[in-house]
Amino acid sequence: MENEVKLASGAMVALGIATAALVVMPYLEVRDIKPPPQLKPYTSAQLRGREVYVANGCVYCHSQQPRDRNLGPDGQRGWGRASVPGDYFYDRPHLLGSMRTGPDLFNIGARQPSKDWHLGHLYQPRAYVPDSIMPSYPYLFTVKDEKDAQAEGEQPLALPPGFRPMIGQVVVPTPEALDLVKYLQGMDHTYPVLPPEPKPVAQSKADSHAQ
Ligand code: HEC
Repeated sequence: MENEVKLASGAMVALGIATAALVVMPYLEVRDIKPPPQLKPYTSAQLRGREVYVANGCVYCHSQQPRDRNLGPDGQRGWGRASVPGDYFYDRPHLLGSMRTGPDLFNIGARQPSKDWHLGHLYQPRAYVPDSIMPSYPYLFTVKDEKDAQAEGEQPLALPPGFRPMIGQVVVPTPEALDLVKYLQGMDHTYPVLPPEPKPVAQSKADSHAQ
């Protein structure tokens, strides 16, 4: 009997320590984090686009977490400053990602603002990046007769030559594709999050004389 009591109390202690270290402490660390003032909440179109991003598994190839320059050359790759906890304030669930088969997308909206480029690239990545191994997402688009698309007031994709459908037909985006692109265009975390570095004393004195 004595051994069972020891076993049960040992298990409780281990569980208690694990809960404190993995649940309570992280919660205390992040509960007071505020969103940076320049970070805007998602629009409803962007939130729908985020769901398309999740449903299509973009997170399996794309991270959303540029690293600090001491940990990797993400800044030199043009992916932006290291992210901070506040940047993720509106992200539920977060889409940090752990694989980088493709580039980090945390600042893709700043790097590539073109709606036409994003739509065409989702329809056929190889039309824009010849050696791309990203899958194409044809089911986010419909191929239609040009006349029908015109009559319905839809805007066809401006695809590069060689990637257009048969003559007389055009590719038009579905609402899911349009929402996804709104989400991608909105991914811009290039605002500063740290206070500017203090000026050297001599220089700030010279500045105040000049004013
Ligand atoms: C199998 C891995 C894979 C999946 C899944 C994937 N991608 Fe990609 N993606 C890549 C690769 C590789 C590149 C780089 C080549 C290129 O630009 O096509 C890329 C490039 C991109 C770029 C351009 C990035 C830049 O810096 O120019 C965007 C935007 C993008 N992907 C969005 C998406 C979205 C949205 C999804 C989900 C619908 C997705 N990707 C799914 C592998 C993937």
